[in-house]
Amino acid sequence: MNIIEFDNVYKMYKLYKNDKKRLLGLFLKKVKCTKKIASNYLTFKIKKGDRVAFMGPNGAGKSTVLKLITGVCFPNEGNVKVEGRVAALLELSAGFDNEFTGRENIYLKCQLLGISKKETKKLEKQIIDFADIGPYIDQPIRTYSSGMRARLGFSIIVHSKSDILIIDEALSVGDKAFKDKCVTKIREICASDNITVLFVTHSLPMAREFCTRGIILNKGHMVFDGDIDEAIDEYNRLF
Ligand SMILES: Nc1ncnc2c1ncn2[C@@H]1O[C@H](COP(=O)(O)OP(=O)(O)O)[C@@H](O)[C@H]1O
Ligand SMILES: [Mg+2]
Repeated sequence: MNIIEFDNVYKMYKLYKNDKKRLLGLFLKKVKCTKKIASNYLTFKIKKGDRVAFMGPNGAGKSTVLKLITGVCFPNEGNVKVEGRVAALLELSAGFDNEFTGRENIYLKCQLLGISKKETKKLEKQIIDFADIGPYIDQPIRTYSSGMRARLGFSIIVHSKSDILIIDEALSVGDKAFKDKCVTKIREICASDNITVLFVTHSLPMAREFCTRGIILNKGHMVFDGDIDEAIDEYNRLF
């Protein structure tokens, strides 16, 4: 069963010299802009349970693919089909309310992720234990450091039991000890076979460990799709 389908997905960004031009550009076609093609008619399918590493140099379009899947952005042309609940380790504090406490934000974020209140109640303790931010959990999160927010955000996502887990390595989650804990948790999640994992990383050893399939992107095009070991060889050859 395909859980994700990209059908000729085209995503282009228009870059204007300044805000005035950008505004004018909304109404007038002739306003000059530079076009950046982030996804150049991409077509691929991902099956339930696949572990896919997206590889490629900076600007290749990896984050764009992930954003199209999470619904943060939309294609100009083509179709993106996603079935199931998506949880993304992309922008960890997205969906938080600064005035709410950490605990209240767990409920808020879980609701955004489509998790029922009853289910959230069951997850609450695990989420708090993993985040390990002590008594701050009952303080408004505007009092948190960015590291504390990230820890709470990460903890909610990895405990959310979603169908699709998206991990963009651009992720920074605080100190070494917590990073190690995160990797261990991701390893644990990857070991269960009903989850689909999409992973963007520059670390080839991590890609090899966590993924079975590799997709190489370059300038918005797909240049390779196949077995992870072959993908890594190809990546090393190309870049
Ligand atoms: N919000 C944006 N506005 C304008 N251009 C963007 C935006 N996001 C991405 N791009 C451009 O789209 C291309 C692909 O970006 P991205 O998907 O972030 O690549 P990657 O994650 O592989 O580094 C790049 O050329 C980038 O400059
Ligand atoms: Mg990126």
